[in-house]
Amino acid sequence: MSIAPLRTMARLVGVPVRALVRRSTRLNAALWDTQYALGFWGYLDGAGDGAVPLSLIETWAPRPTILDLGCGTSANLALTRGRYRHYHGVDISRRAIEVARSLDRPDASYEVADIRAYRSLERYDAILLREVIYYLTVAEAEHLLRRLPDMLTARGRIMVQIYDVDRSQQFVEVIRGCGLDVTTRLPTDRADGATGAFFVLTPAAAPPR
Ligand SMILES: C[S@@+](CC[C@H](N)C(=O)[O-])C[C@H]1O[C@@H](n2cnc3c(N)ncnc32)[C@H](O)[C@@H]1O
Repeated sequence: MSIAPLRTMARLVGVPVRALVRRSTRLNAALWDTQYALGFWGYLDGAGDGAVPLSLIETWAPRPTILDLGCGTSANLALTRGRYRHYHGVDISRRAIEVARSLDRPDASYEVADIRAYRSLERYDAILLREVIYYLTVAEAEHLLRRLPDMLTARGRIMVQIYDVDRSQQFVEVIRGCGLDVTTRLPTDRADGATGAFFVLTPAAAPPR
């Protein structure tokens, strides 16, 4: 028997099931924990571009404080000791955060939390959203992006990394609709042929009174 109809069925059933699961923080966390346990995301730990975020952040904030939302294991993020003041990684997956903690990175802290409801009284020079924004619905992404400027220092900026450039255009529209300007767009050519991009966002200047 051909497996094509089964694949189509799995896709048809899978989309609404994933949408339902993602709505609940607990189920969403369990889904991500399972994926980490099965090793689905292990390849990310050795993925390229890891040195780009810090060099890019240094163009606006030398020795920055960094908030990494949806950090995963953070193993692919090259942070040289002494070149950042503090790194705080947040992820919904307890398993990913356990691995991140085991890296024993200096000047770093971690937290298990759902970024859709995340708030912090701290302010950061850089807030990173690396390969995570498309796991949120457009409404959730808008809600998050509108809150982030309150967590930035005066020199702070947001950096969004999007692997799938075809989907990135949709998010550029969302970003602009949230009162953020795209100040830098840095394309990345990956070994697998896909083209991604880093976007640096700044809160748009308030209109003159
Ligand atoms: C594709 S991985 C990217 C991980 C890392 N940022 C990187 O670029 O290597 C997506 C990550 O987002 C996390 N994530 C997805 N939805 C989340 C949410 N609502 N709150 C917090 N983390 C979330 C997942 O647990 C996963 O670690």
